[in-house]
Order: sequence, then C-alpha cells, then structure tokens
Amino acid sequence: MCGIVGYIGYREAYPIVINGLKRLEYRGYDSAGIALFDGEHLKVAKTKGKVVDLEDKVKRELTTDGHIALGHTRWATHGVPNDVNSHPHYSNSENLVIIHNGIIENYESLKKALKERGYTFKSDTDTEVLVNLIEDVMSKENLKLGKAVQVALNQVIGAYAIAVFDKNKPDEIIAARLGSPLAIGVGKDEFFIASDASPFLEFTKNAIYLEDEELAIIRLGRDVKIRKIKDDSMVDPYVQALQLNLEQIEKGGYEHFMLKEIYEQPSAILDTFRGRLLSNEAIIKMSGVEDNMKKFLNAERIIIVACGTSWHAGLVSEYIFEDLARIPVEVEYASEFRYRNPVITEKDIVIAISQSGETADTLAAIKLAKSKGAFVFGVCNVVGSSIARETHAGAYTHAGPEIGVASTKAFTTQITVLSLIALRLARAKGTISSSDFRHHLIELELIPDKVKKALESDSYVKTVADIYKTAKNCLYLGRGYNFPVALEGALKLKEISYIHAEGYPAAEMKHGPIALIDEQMPVIVIATKKGHYEKVVSNIQEIKSRKGKIIGVVTEGDTQVKDLADHVIEVPETLEALSPLLTTIPLQLLSYHIAVMLGKNVDQPRNLAKSVTVE
Ligand code: AGP
Ligand code: GLU
Repeated sequence: MCGIVGYIGYREAYPIVINGLKRLEYRGYDSAGIALFDGEHLKVAKTKGKVVDLEDKVKRELTTDGHIALGHTRWATHGVPNDVNSHPHYSNSENLVIIHNGIIENYESLKKALKERGYTFKSDTDTEVLVNLIEDVMSKENLKLGKAVQVALNQVIGAYAIAVFDKNKPDEIIAARLGSPLAIGVGKDEFFIASDASPFLEFTKNAIYLEDEELAIIRLGRDVKIRKIKDDSMVDPYVQALQLNLEQIEKGGYEHFMLKEIYEQPSAILDTFRGRLLSNEAIIKMSGVEDNMKKFLNAERIIIVACGTSWHAGLVSEYIFEDLARIPVEVEYASEFRYRNPVITEKDIVIAISQSGETADTLAAIKLAKSKGAFVFGVCNVVGSSIARETHAGAYTHAGPEIGVASTKAFTTQITVLSLIALRLARAKGTISSSDFRHHLIELELIPDKVKKALESDSYVKTVADIYKTAKNCLYLGRGYNFPVALEGALKLKEISYIHAEGYPAAEMKHGPIALIDEQMPVIVIATKKGHYEKVVSNIQEIKSRKGKIIGVVTEGDTQVKDLADHVIEVPETLEALSPLLTTIPLQLLSYHIAVMLGKNVDQPRNLAKSVTVE
C-alpha cells in the first residue's frame, strides 16, 4: 500500500534511505520508520506522522552511522497508525527486522500458533507476525534467512513487498513480493530496494523489478540471486536500464495519479475483499459486522450518510441492501442530515462512508446520530482517521492512498465493502438463497479481472472523448443500480473538465430533461443487459428521435443499442447488483480524457480539495 526503501553498500545508509522515503511521500502514508545496523547495534526509530517527524525522532534517539538500513512509510491496514504499529518491526530475538507493504490475510491464525510457541507481540500489525514466523522457521528448521523467508512465505496468504535482514549477517538483505511492487537498484558494490525506482534513480539506473512470487537474496560482493517462492527454483535476474524520469516513476508511468488510480482498481477491489470473501466455503468474514450482527439484524432502518462520490456509493448500496437483504435504507447527504433535525432512534443503524475519513459534514452527521442513540458503522479508506475513530465499528476499504482529488478506486472499493455487508446480512436473514449467495460471491471474485477487461476500452473511450470534449452540457442516464453510476459519471466530468453535466434516472427524461435534447447534447446512457434493459432502449429511442448524440455503456456483445447509439462502450457481463463496479469504469476514463484534452489540472481541479474538512 505504501513505501519501502532499503540500502546495503559502501555508503552511509541513513541519508539514502531517509531521502528515499521522501521520494515516496507522493504515495501518501500515516507513519514512517527506519532500521539501521552500524556493525554492532541494530537501531530502530519509528513514529506516527511524516518523514520529517521521523527525522526529528532519529536526531533525538539514534546515531545514524551504518551501511545497511531499511525504511518504511505505512498506509495502515491492521493496527491504527501509532509509533508501535509503525515499521520496521523486530522479531522477538531482535536479530531480525522487517518492513512490509501489503496485507497478510491469515495473520490471526499464524499469530495464534506463534503465541502457542511462546512468541509475544508488541503491535497489532500483521507484519510483526510475519517477522516472527520467519524467525520461528529459521530457528526450528535451522535455516539461513533466505530459505527461512521462502518457507515462511509459503504459509502466508495475502499481498506483500518485504525486505528483511539479520543483524548477525549484515551483508545480506532478503526481499520478496506478491501483489505489491518491489524494485532492486543494482549499483557498483551497493544495492537498493524500493517500492519504485524513485529512491535510487540518482544512484543507478540499473533495476531489477521482482515479479510476483519471487524472492531475492541481495548480498554484497555477489550478484542478486532470485528464486521462486513456491518451489525455490532459480530465476535469471533481468537487469534493465531505466529510461524513466522521477515524475514518471511517481505516477507509475501514468500521466496523472487519477489515471494510475483508475488502473489500480482491479488490485484495490481484490485487496478490499481479500480475507473477507471466502467463496469456496461460501462465507463472508467481516469482524465489524459479525461483532454487531444482532444490531444489524434487529435494525428497522439503515441510514447512509456521506458526501460526493461516497454518497453515490451509498446510493448504489441502497439498491443492494433493499434488493438482497430486504432492509429499508435511506441515503442522506451528510450536510443536509446534520441540520434538518432528522428522526433517529436506537433502532436505526447509520453507515457513514468516507474515503478520507475526515469530511466535516459526515463527521458531524455521525456525532448527531450517536447523540440520538443510533449505532454508527464506518466505511473508510484511511485507518485511524477521525471518522474511523468516531464510529462504533467499521470496515476499511483497502484501496491504498487515493491521491487524485477525483475519487475513483475509493468509489469501487466502497461498493465492494457495502456489497459484502449486504450479502452477509442477506445470508443471515435468509433473504437470499444459498445458491444465489454463492453465485454473488463467485461473481464478485471475478470482478477484478472484469474491471481489467473494461479498462481495455480505454483507447476507444479516448476517441469518443475527442469528439465530445467541446460539449457545453452532458446528460448521464441510468436505471436501477446504475442510476447512482449516472450521477457519479456526471460528477466526474463536472469536477475535472468543468463541463456542466447532470445525472438522471433514465425514466425521468420525459418529466422535463428531454426538453434539453438536441444535436449539441451528448447523452451517456448506461444500458447493460441486466436492469430494465428494454425500458432503457426505449429511452434511447426517445433521445434519438430528438437528434441527441448517444453514448451507450453496454454489455459486451450488445447489438440492439449498437444499432441506435452513436457510440457504444462495452463492459463484461455480471450480476445486476455488481454492474456498477464495471459501468463506472468507462465513465471515469471518459471524464479523464476529456479533462486532459481540455488541458485541465486533472489531479488538482480548481476550487477542490481532496478532503473537505470544513463545512
Ligand atoms: C469525488 O470525486 C470528490 N472528490 C468529492 O465529492 C468527495 O467524494 C467528497 O468530498 C467526499 O469525500 P470523502 O469520501 O473523503 O468523505
Ligand atoms: N499491513 C501492514 C500494516 O498495516 C502494512 C501496511 C502498508 O502496506 O503500509 O502495518
């Protein structure tokens, strides 16, 4: 999720690692830490806060000599942001030290087994479990560190980019990756490890990018050795000469953070249901819901409070909760809810949705609901944020830091979390058959690959964007589950291209908006196979007969809308309840390309802030 940096070589390690962490600051984070070995002492300093706070702490606590070091910027997933949960983490013997990006799904069972073997833990993180598992394997089977890491990782389920070293063997660092990025900088008599090449580009342009399920043994005086984690087989290292500049690296080679985050959605959705969706056992496991199941099942109503894109995710979930779990839902703009003296009782459950976890209106709505006795559940993307701390319970999206002001991966991961909750409650209430339940789980597991498929329409969407970039107004239409997606698509276009756009339920056209239709008006219509398809087709015909320009978002293979619309953008088929996860993709891409073509500041649009912490 965040950043790792390591160094081993002839130079002083501290300045390289601390500056490397600063290079990774663009990735967003909540805490930072460093481990240094000076030949005698293994020294660790770590703190909640920024890299500058870490520098201050190092000045107070550590001598900074040493030629091997590991640094980390954390985006917490397990354990709130505080000093103890920050990385690096020691093993119990304090011989090993580790830094980790990612999520160890099965950390609880591993931790339980390690506790039974006498291991103790200082932090609440999944990472501290991993370093003690490595130590346990190393001592039990008398293995060298590289082999012990390989054996330990074969017991791990989850995602990781890790670097670990043993103070008793300070000429070697072991690195490994699955799902999180890791690059090795190959210098002359020195090596660098980092989440991307930005921390070491000034020292060397020779890099090895580890592939998934690969482990690297990085030892001074030798070439890097790479092994497959699964079977320990050797892999020939491919050292490439980098052509990228710093800015290109920070954005992962994408032109903007927003595009990078649109493309991160398959992995962000996967990380969000990882460890929670177990389709072969046909179970959904979310502690925040399990621990409060009675409240959820006895609730007379769910009130959703949120703002902006998060409000649109709430609107999607209204359809899911009512359709599948048969629980009455009201979706409220937090800014309205907090002032209109709403009727709230102990029988209500309030779900607050917020990417930043700091939106003032949403926070105020939560406090109001709590004051009236409601149980409040949070869905946030920032662990330990104000909203996460203010709510009685919650479930995090694991989208990773969202840097672009226009929310994209937060939206799809919020829908993912809310779908899991709705399905879990539907199962508990018996309002969904076990076969339908299982079907939804299996289909949800296929969504990351289907999002990847939807992203393949990018170049075609760009040609459509070029045709409509000069439009003065746009209409977005959708029905059912995709009505909120129409609203979200309109918001995306408005906030980054500054073109006026409105989202409407497709059936509402005849109640007024149809007066707007003429050949200057592009109308984006979500017309997927499932969800009132025939009705939407007749809406399209109404628009066509008034010479409106029609861009249809359709299920792949659709021919009927294809014959009517000026352009069609295909998305893979899925269940109706999950279709917003796919139909939103072309709308994100369309708004992105139009904004870029208009020369707008896509990542920081005018007048907007990433988190609206004022009223
Ligand atoms: C969405 O693209 C906007 N950036 C904005 O509407 C945002 O969704 C809203 O401010 C809510 O933010 P939150 O999710 O952090 O609470
Ligand atoms: N899951 C680990 C933690 O919560 C790592 C998070 C990250 O990738 O920064 O500490």
